Amino acid sequence: MNAPLALPIDRLRDRFAYDYIHVTPVTPTIGAEISGIDLRSPVSPEAAADIRKALHDWRVIFFRDQQIDNDQLKAFGRAFGPLTPAHPIAEGLEDHPEIWERSVEEYRARRQRTDTLPPSREPPPDYKGWHIDITFVANPNRYSFLHGVEIPPYGGDTLFTNLIEAYRGLSPAIQQLIDGLQAVHRTSAYDSGGERKPRRDGRATGPFVSLHPLVRIHPETGEKLIFLNPGTTSHIVGLKERESQALLDLLFYEITRPEYQVRFHWQPKSLVVWDNQAVAHAGPIDYAQFDLPRAVRRITVAGELPQGPDGFRSRALEGDLFNVLG
Ligand SMILES: [Fe+2]
Repeated sequence: MNAPLALPIDRLRDRFAYDYIHVTPVTPTIGAEISGIDLRSPVSPEAAADIRKALHDWRVIFFRDQQIDNDQLKAFGRAFGPLTPAHPIAEGLEDHPEIWERSVEEYRARRQRTDTLPPSREPPPDYKGWHIDITFVANPNRYSFLHGVEIPPYGGDTLFTNLIEAYRGLSPAIQQLIDGLQAVHRTSAYDSGGERKPRRDGRATGPFVSLHPLVRIHPETGEKLIFLNPGTTSHIVGLKERESQALLDLLFYEITRPEYQVRFHWQPKSLVVWDNQAVAHAGPIDYAQFDLPRAVRRITVAGELPQGPDGFRSRALEGDLFNVLG
């Protein structure tokens, strides 16, 4: 006899229904490889709709061997909405202000700093690199696109975890407790990059502080997710410090359970797209252990103000919204 299905059969069938792309799931809960599409050519609205569906079904999608240049990367991103500048604080490429190039040296320096800190009751500085992109602004980006430019033969993998599954896995009493809470997210020392330099576009470089619901309603699918950013959530509003920290620790444990995760091994020209409204990610996780060049380029599609189950909308406490490049 077959093992019982973890999901209703109609949802399983639906998650495999695509007309314009091939979708090969990597795990039952998160991650799928997409093939049958060459992103050097413009993506048709029908194919873009299929890709967006795959993103909502599988939360993070992986394309292999996409020989695209910077303009083609941006054109692909724009099929899913207007692009933001590269980052609210860091600069983009000179000729492509939407593109943020990251090299492994930055990660390695950060890891060495945070791994040598003494124990304290202060919030852990980065929970080993797990984060949601740019939640220190009130309107974090909707999707993130990361293209492998220089990829080492081993090492440098990226981890993703499904925040919707993590919410579903909680007992109803804990769900009810966190449904009505809000948390403060602020720029970490890492986001600020040490000393701030003026931006070419003259925009303020922070500090950024935002108030977000602790549970977010996904704006496109209506699902609930744990909207905890281990990298930048400083505390939960209205709780005592020890209560806030204990609850954040519990939720961090829950969102990073291995059964909600997928681990992506890069190859040159791999392209990863994740739904930044549904996943947290960490990577590369082993930069202290290897010394090979690695560079990736990121673009982000603009997002809206997150909303909680009680209708609470995120708002900025300090700093501007994440703007859109015209
Ligand atoms: Fe990130």
